[in-house]
Amino acid sequence: MLGKRSNKASVETESPVSVPGPQHVAIIMDGNGRWAQKKGKIRTFGHKAGVESVRAVVRFARQNDIKSLTLFAFSSENWKRPEEEVSVLMELFNLVLNNEAKRLHKNGVRLKVIGDVSAFDDKLKEKIRKAEDMTAENEALVLNIAANYGGRWDIVNAAQQLANEVVTGAVSIEDINESLFDSKMSTADLPELDLLIRTGGEHRISNFLLWQCAYAELFFTDVLWPDFSEEVFQEAVDDFKRRQRRFGLTGDQVDVIAK
Ligand code: FPP
Repeated sequence: MLGKRSNKASVETESPVSVPGPQHVAIIMDGNGRWAQKKGKIRTFGHKAGVESVRAVVRFARQNDIKSLTLFAFSSENWKRPEEEVSVLMELFNLVLNNEAKRLHKNGVRLKVIGDVSAFDDKLKEKIRKAEDMTAENEALVLNIAANYGGRWDIVNAAQQLANEVVTGAVSIEDINESLFDSKMSTADLPELDLLIRTGGEHRISNFLLWQCAYAELFFTDVLWPDFSEEVFQEAVDDFKRRQRRFGLTGDQVDVIAK
């Protein structure tokens, strides 16, 4: 199990001179529709092309010692898209699970789906369960696919779990603190989110990992998702390494701790 780093520990161990790369990266894969439309194709052509970028980022993450990669594949709000587009996204999801699960397993990648999977059809739910079971012991990388995911859903879900535990007496109200709350989030057991990348030019979080973004570094690029490459990923990581993460301290305090 991957331990969660506390913010304090990160400050104490991370020198601004030789900053380690991010352990947990999340990506909002935006711009598939515009990429396709620019080429005179229908939007779903862009989603299909986006799968190649997913392969590229998984490869990059494995080669660069990133321990956890969380991809926003389908938000709780995406159901409102045209029926045809939703159904292509579901087909793609099925296809990726069919075609990639074994390859991920061979490469030591653990696949996890975060989000409200209860909304998916039984066939998809079964494929998710099988892929998660098959890869459960892998440790090279945790690939989290956020599907029917919303940051507010994640927080409400954690609150419901805690409320239940208060009702059963397993937890008292006084026991509820950030760390206990965090342990109920869908990303519990993963390292703290270090870096959030959004492609496609928009500068917003769009109800992605709201709780987890508290101290994440944000990187926005105009590159549309199907054009996202290992080079752009490297640019984001290099940019991350140049940042001074202060976690509420002053820059001078961080410098002293790092010496
Ligand atoms: C946002 O682009 C992208 C999505 C809603 C879907 C992302 C899905 C994939 C990359 C393929 C499947 C991946 C996995 C992991 C199964 P957009 O349609 O909002 O683009 P736009 O802003 O140009 O309209």
